[in-house]
Amino acid sequence: MVENSIFYNEDAFGKLSEIIDNESEKFILCDTQTKKYCLPYLSSKIPTLTKATILSLPKGENSKEWESAIYVWDKLLKKNADKHSILLNVGGGVVCDLGGFVASVFKRGITYVNIPTSLMAQVDAAIGGKTAINFNGIKNQIGSFYLPQYVFIFNDLLLSLPKKHYLSAFAEMLKHALIADKKYWEALKQIKNTKTIINHQHLIQQSINIKENIVAQDFKDCKERKKLNFGHTIGHAIEAELLKNRKNILHGEAIAWGMLVEAHLSWQKGFLSSQDLEEINAVIRGYYYSLPTYYINENNLIKLIKNDKKRISNNSNITLLKGIGCAIINQNCSDSEIRKAVRFTFQ
Ligand SMILES: NC(=O)c1ccc[n+]([C@@H]2O[C@H](COP(=O)([O-])OP(=O)(O)OC[C@H]3O[C@@H](n4cnc5c(N)ncnc54)[C@H](O)[C@@H]3O)[C@@H](O)[C@H]2O)c1
Ligand SMILES: [Zn+2]
Repeated sequence: MVENSIFYNEDAFGKLSEIIDNESEKFILCDTQTKKYCLPYLSSKIPTLTKATILSLPKGENSKEWESAIYVWDKLLKKNADKHSILLNVGGGVVCDLGGFVASVFKRGITYVNIPTSLMAQVDAAIGGKTAINFNGIKNQIGSFYLPQYVFIFNDLLLSLPKKHYLSAFAEMLKHALIADKKYWEALKQIKNTKTIINHQHLIQQSINIKENIVAQDFKDCKERKKLNFGHTIGHAIEAELLKNRKNILHGEAIAWGMLVEAHLSWQKGFLSSQDLEEINAVIRGYYYSLPTYYINENNLIKLIKNDKKRISNNSNITLLKGIGCAIINQNCSDSEIRKAVRFTFQ
């Protein structure tokens, strides 16, 4: 396993220049947006970056497919990539997930580097070495655990990121705070407009540290790492249900809603005080106020939760909260508890 290292801004330029100038063949994987908005910034700082071969995918989740992986492997082979070649992923979670997967099996594993350009990728997707593609319409079905050699975080890359993607990623930041750090929760609460996160590099760093710390304890997702699933068991079911009905929802919005449901479950189990539940509810709804207007069929939701890939045997296997800043994994929740919690979010 390669050593994982994260560099920020000026330090990142220094380290990235070193990599660009070494002898191995370099390939940049990006999408249409990051090619347009992010590569010019990076090559203005590191002119030799233009020597790398650029592979570009159409923007969006539809690129996280088998066909894109084949496209990249094919290009790598045609351009004579070898086992010393380096893949630089310049993009959001889609590019980082797909690029990491492609790198993990090409020539039995080549070095890759993540240069996350979306807030979601900076605080979450680029960190921790979970790589994946979607398959047969189901998210992240094929993938690997394979760490990037480096992750380079450049604050300025976020300047061109559309506003809605800040809001989406902010849900993961709130999740980090809820599962691991009450002080961080207090700090995040002060953010009124999520786009201003760009001015708070220390908050981005805090999220990265929380994720790194959890991953370091449990790389293969057997125990501690499951804390990061808070909001996701219900959130994924909400995402699937709404997508089926052709209602678009951002991943972060679904997770925000999932966190409300799972906070209520935590309260029903007696883990969370009424006061903490009220606070979580008020803070999350303050950012994601449009959530309850979406239509959700409760019965379909229960079915989807039971199908969740994180389920083991008959248990729901949900991560709950034991307070703000503390998570508890592997909790079983009955259908009626879940129904009550879902109804609570419609109030
Ligand atoms: N591996 C993990 O641990 C992990 C964690 C969280 C999310 N994910 C995955 O990440 C994906 C979501 O990530 P995402 O929200 O970054 O999606 P994304 O990569 O599709 O990026 C969102 C949009 O923003 C654009 N974009 C990215 N950076 C930009 C920039 N700097 N300027 C302008 N536009 C920019 C992209 O082109 C895209 O259109 C999902 O597939 C999810 O499953 C993985
Ligand atoms: Zn998520």
